[in-house]
Amino acid sequence: MRGTGKEAPFVGRDRELRQVKELFHATADERRARLVSIVGLAGIGKSRLAWEFEKYIDGLAADVLWHRGRCLSYGEGVTYWALAEMVRRRCEIVEGENQATTATKLRATLDKYMPDAEEQRWVEPRLGHLLGLEENIAPERVNLFAAWRIFFERIAEQTPTVMVFEEMQWADAGLVDFIEYLLEWSGRHPIYVLTLARPEFGDRHPGWGSAKRSFNSLYLEPLNAGAMDELLGGLVPGLPEDIRARIRDRAEGIPLYAVETVRMMLDRGTLRREGNRYTLTGPVGDLDVPDTLHALIAARLDALPPAERGLLQNAAVLGQSFSTERLGALAQSSEGSLDGLLESLMRKEFLAVQADPQSPERGQYTFLQALVQKVAYDTLSKRERKARHLEVARHLEATWARDADEIVEVVASHYLDAYRAEPGDADASEIRESARRLLVRAGQRAGSLAATGEAERYFVQASELTEDPVTGAELRERAGEMAWRGGAAVTATAHYEAAISLFERAGLRHPAARVSARLGEVMFFEGRLQEAVDRMEASFAVLSGDPPDGDLAALAAQLARFHYFLGHRERGAERVELALDIAESVDQPETLAQAMITKGIFLGIRGRHEEAMALLDHALRYALNRDIGAAALRAYFNLTDRLTRSGRVDAAIAQASEGVALARRLGDRFWECSLLANMLYPLYIVGRWDEALQRAAEMPDLERLGSQRTILSAAGLSGLIHVNRGDLDAARRLLEASAEMETSPDVQDRSNHIAMRAALRHAEGRFAEALEDGSAAFTWVAEIGGNEGVDEGIIAALEAAFSLDDTATVKELIEQAHALRRVDTSTYLRAHLTRFEARLAARQNDDDAEAGFARATEAFRELGAAFGLGLTLLELGAWLAERRREDEAAVRWDEAGGIFGALSAKPWRERLERTVAGTSLSLAQPSA
Ligand SMILES: Nc1ncnc2c1ncn2[C@@H]1O[C@H](COP(=O)(O)OP(=O)(O)OP(=O)(O)O)[C@@H](O)[C@H]1O
Ligand SMILES: [Mg+2]
Repeated sequence: MRGTGKEAPFVGRDRELRQVKELFHATADERRARLVSIVGLAGIGKSRLAWEFEKYIDGLAADVLWHRGRCLSYGEGVTYWALAEMVRRRCEIVEGENQATTATKLRATLDKYMPDAEEQRWVEPRLGHLLGLEENIAPERVNLFAAWRIFFERIAEQTPTVMVFEEMQWADAGLVDFIEYLLEWSGRHPIYVLTLARPEFGDRHPGWGSAKRSFNSLYLEPLNAGAMDELLGGLVPGLPEDIRARIRDRAEGIPLYAVETVRMMLDRGTLRREGNRYTLTGPVGDLDVPDTLHALIAARLDALPPAERGLLQNAAVLGQSFSTERLGALAQSSEGSLDGLLESLMRKEFLAVQADPQSPERGQYTFLQALVQKVAYDTLSKRERKARHLEVARHLEATWARDADEIVEVVASHYLDAYRAEPGDADASEIRESARRLLVRAGQRAGSLAATGEAERYFVQASELTEDPVTGAELRERAGEMAWRGGAAVTATAHYEAAISLFERAGLRHPAARVSARLGEVMFFEGRLQEAVDRMEASFAVLSGDPPDGDLAALAAQLARFHYFLGHRERGAERVELALDIAESVDQPETLAQAMITKGIFLGIRGRHEEAMALLDHALRYALNRDIGAAALRAYFNLTDRLTRSGRVDAAIAQASEGVALARRLGDRFWECSLLANMLYPLYIVGRWDEALQRAAEMPDLERLGSQRTILSAAGLSGLIHVNRGDLDAARRLLEASAEMETSPDVQDRSNHIAMRAALRHAEGRFAEALEDGSAAFTWVAEIGGNEGVDEGIIAALEAAFSLDDTATVKELIEQAHALRRVDTSTYLRAHLTRFEARLAARQNDDDAEAGFARATEAFRELGAAFGLGLTLLELGAWLAERRREDEAAVRWDEAGGIFGALSAKPWRERLERTVAGTSLSLAQPSA
């Protein structure tokens, strides 16, 4: 947005501009996303720098797609406004355009950038929602963010893309999150993000960009005296030296101050504009200008004819940019036509018209400086503000809100400002009610855009504007839901507690119980498991006395899940049945999907593998078809486990890979890592060890996962690969990284950690310790049933007992393992047990050994479990060789040698070589 006047020559920012250009080229060349955060005081030249850069980009031979969006300063920002503006620009949609043409233009743009029809179908409603088109969208943040991100990625795949976010000091928290998200997930795309902000932005977002490689920050210092002189000299040639020095000294390096002083001289007639240059009309005399930027601007406003000043004041209420139509809706003073006044204000460089044909604001007027808008607004009395805000709000509501929700936040903020200006007026309660109504809608909209922080704030504001305790309670409940969805447990708890006590005081038991259940959920994830479940059960008792509804279904489903974690199988199974009964009849897809998964888990731990799998599989399809991301990911996760344990290891890996892909599309780190971790053990079993280590490396820094200990512990099992490859240091490092798991209250965490330690101790020759660690598996299984930690613990214990030549312990361990319920053992563990029995038989010179080894070989082959097979063949070969059946032994050993070679299981290959060396045989050399 440039004015009509003469632009000061661009001075003193060569280094900064060069840096911005270089980083852009690096972004385009390396095809890596990057952010440059430009920070500086009002009027220091942030927008100008961006504009110089834009001119440079325009001049490049190569195509670059430019996007610009400005955050609005209403209230605490309007959710994602700047982003929506960029999307509009790309689609050439004008602000306020009707729904039909908006939809058509969006479709046309998607056709251009998103050839994949399926992807387009997925992205379209989510982008539409951002533009105020679609209403019924699943408000999962991951879903929306992913769609918006993919849109820009596809654009960037065709052409390097620039996104300039202006006035970030007014950004809503949702936008800030989105920008960080975009940078993190679109890292491999040439997307160049510039953010322009005043320093207060940093105070509000202290963690902004910290610790990101793709982040650069550029702080604009005041211009030095030389540059200021150059600026003034260029702007007003012939300006006397002493005047120039005075302006320069007062400006303290803020170019806007210098520019505004020149404009003031223009207003006063000391300067005249002739075409594109300013000339002095005579001696300047005493330069009487206020010494702060604010006061300077205020003085300029003050000197304007009343009609012009009045127009600017009205415009200031409307916002930084406005249409003549909206301006006309505000009562005008009779003097002068609107057009004439606007014309004059443009000449005086207060306003400019948006002429950029791609801008969604094209044709609108804009304050040339945001600061002028603010100063003009500040000159209004409270009464004047109230009247104007009210008029604007009513006008907007009458003209916009009919078909679009995207400015409901703006309208709400006008009502709120009108109310706050004069809360004691007779009509205040009516205005307050309008404000409350609009704030609720603003909350709904923000919530549906997954901007939970904003939504929470709107609901709280709305609750403060009502005198009815029940309405207040409902609004606090909604605020609590939003806070919790945004992960703010403490705030959510406070809202819920407030809502509960309001409901209780009004004697409303059902809603009080509903909120209490929500509070229970917060407590559960805060680690207060038992207390949470008790609270939720108490709510359950109340709610189940009323006709069944969605509240009860959701509560029952959640309770079922929590009971499972606490090991209350029967109670959990009972709750899940009820959840399923209701969810299906009141049509609650999310509850239904989650309940099906939970039921699948319960069936699984009862040993009903097939049914469990059928249910999990269906829950997965169901959730995928309805776009319920969280449920789909949870289904993938549980299916992977189930498939691995029942011996369908390749299928497990395939499911986990699909899940990882979905998690990545949705931008969900938690599930991405959980699924990656879940995939390591199956990959280990089938001998795809390189792939497993590669997958483990794809997990982001384990540190960043913070409390996600389960992921950490599952990842730890990949240490088995290091152990069996003889890289004991790597295994030790992994063990150390997850040292806290040793004392975790979660048995699952402990079991994985200790099982891996057992394997390491064995490899180190510390057999007694390995035996002790591994034997603990039998206590774990009593607590949580079978899992991979239990399997590996038992395997390590048996290996150790053999190494110790402790036949009695071997026997005992085998017996203990056989005593386990079948559901607690996996196909893989059973194959190993068959192998150990054969070894025991061999040790006791029992002829059953051969058949046993054969059965184990068979079992491992069927599983595709290369490493287990290699071990069995090695042992069977030794048994055969002892019986002088060398030819038969040779075949086994050759195969084992091939397997160990392919796995790079060096210690095992060496052990095989030593075994063979004791005979007259030699090993086939692995083919090169
Ligand atoms: N390096 C420069 N050389 C010449 N003129 C400049 C320079 N930097 C800024 N200006 C001029 O100073 C005025 C204010 O600059 P600009 O609008 O870029 O400030 P800003 O930092 O974006 O302020 P705000 O925080 O209010 O958005 C503009 O008229 C601009 O052209
Ligand atoms: Mg600016």
